Amino acid sequence: MAKAKTAKSKKTATKNAVKTYHNYIGGEWVKSSSGEWFENVNPADTTDIIGRFPKSNEDDVKKAVAAAKAASVKWRRTPAPKRAELLFKLAEHLRDNKEAYTRDMTREMGKVLKEAGGDVQEAIDCTYYTAGEGRRLHGFTTPAEMPNKFAMCVRQPVGICGLITPFNFPMAIPSWKLIPALVCGNTVVIKSGEDVPLSTINLVKACEAAGIPKGVVNVVNGFGDAGQALVEHDDIRLISFTGSTATGAKIAEQCARDNKIVSLEMGGKNAIIVMDDADVDNAVEGSLWGAFGTSGQRCTASSRLIVHKKVYKKFCEKLVERVKKLKVGNGLDPKTEVGPVINAKAMDKILGYIEVGKNEDKATLACGGNRLTKGDFKNGYFIEPTVFTNVKRGMRIEQEEIFGPVTCVIQFETLDEAIDIVNGVKYGLSSAIYTQDVNNSFYAMQELYTGICYVNSATIGAEVHLPFGGTKGTGNGHREAGTQVLDIFTEWKSLYIDYSGKLQKAQIDEVEI
Ligand code: UN1
Repeated sequence: MAKAKTAKSKKTATKNAVKTYHNYIGGEWVKSSSGEWFENVNPADTTDIIGRFPKSNEDDVKKAVAAAKAASVKWRRTPAPKRAELLFKLAEHLRDNKEAYTRDMTREMGKVLKEAGGDVQEAIDCTYYTAGEGRRLHGFTTPAEMPNKFAMCVRQPVGICGLITPFNFPMAIPSWKLIPALVCGNTVVIKSGEDVPLSTINLVKACEAAGIPKGVVNVVNGFGDAGQALVEHDDIRLISFTGSTATGAKIAEQCARDNKIVSLEMGGKNAIIVMDDADVDNAVEGSLWGAFGTSGQRCTASSRLIVHKKVYKKFCEKLVERVKKLKVGNGLDPKTEVGPVINAKAMDKILGYIEVGKNEDKATLACGGNRLTKGDFKNGYFIEPTVFTNVKRGMRIEQEEIFGPVTCVIQFETLDEAIDIVNGVKYGLSSAIYTQDVNNSFYAMQELYTGICYVNSATIGAEVHLPFGGTKGTGNGHREAGTQVLDIFTEWKSLYIDYSGKLQKAQIDEVEI
């Protein structure tokens, strides 16, 4: 047991037997060879312990990679349509258990039930959509330079993939990585987010129920050291990571040294532009959803609202009025609109940024700004939805990712100025513009340097059949979801078949036809 948690768990174990979960290695549910455990608690009520999970070490990672290696040849030789059949079964299983998975997710992660349901649904949609690739996985043919010669290109699996997943989309994000990896013929080891291990276990139990062969999917629970062991393992060919920019940079360095394929999905500082011709009420609704959905813990969160000076006052008044009415609480209560944040460390970081906004940036705190501690809030990590106004370019709260229920409003005069503000951060994930003007919207779509751009909608809510990812500090050029994800989980192989019966030399000048 992780040290700080030992005493507490002994006490609770006698009170209401804490459920024990295991790693999944080679098709067996096993404990960590460390003999240690960590507790997963409900961020809305930390006295509610979801379970204890193995605190995995390098030895566990080695065993999981060995299991993935042992399963890899058979899985890669299984025809893709057959692999896909199992994935369709997996989708059905996820669909049939959606309600239970949704509740488990809200309990361990805190997001409100409707959003947790959306998260599970995204995993279902991703699975159905991506499994369809089993009967496509298109390559291409192309004419060869010489007569009686055939040229074509096919996708091949990359090998054993390490998937390192975050807390904020506990089932959707693992599915974005797992399902394409499998349909392409790879085997995997998942290091699940330490705050949300149950949702990954639910996903993997569904894989087991669907009949995905032993060893094809393996899970180790635990912290950064388990993730590091995975990144450093010689037999891992690819790391797919979603999480903080700081961790992503370390992973990228290690993968570069070992020449591993690495796919990174990291931070964002996304902005909504509200033009003077916008439907202000609609823009306020979009901003509320974009900034405070998932308590602002999305890499796509609308953490900057860039508002034309002609509508700035009206927008701020309406926004603040609506934000003050948001119902904060336990996500399991269907009336709750904003749940807790994930853990004490995240809460302290967010509260720290609120102090920066007030004292260092000297922006105007228009509403919120406090931790909620009384009554039902007393055992949770709750922060009031917070809005800063009079925010200027270059302030820290305007530049840095806060990843919590905090947004800031910035005033502008021209569309070019607004676009410069949107693009003036180190990230480039998502952007949005509210306007009724077709010219302005197309101009913005062209100039906003982000991987995703919305017109008359918030910066959140990407759909699984379109590529997802960002520019600059957000990623390393890859896109998840859509068919573009296949470029992460496959390598191209070019095939040349000469049926002329003689030596024909390519790339030599004297070709005779
Ligand atoms: C993330 O926050 O890491 O578009 C991903 C969205 C979600 C994905 C967010 N579907 O907001």
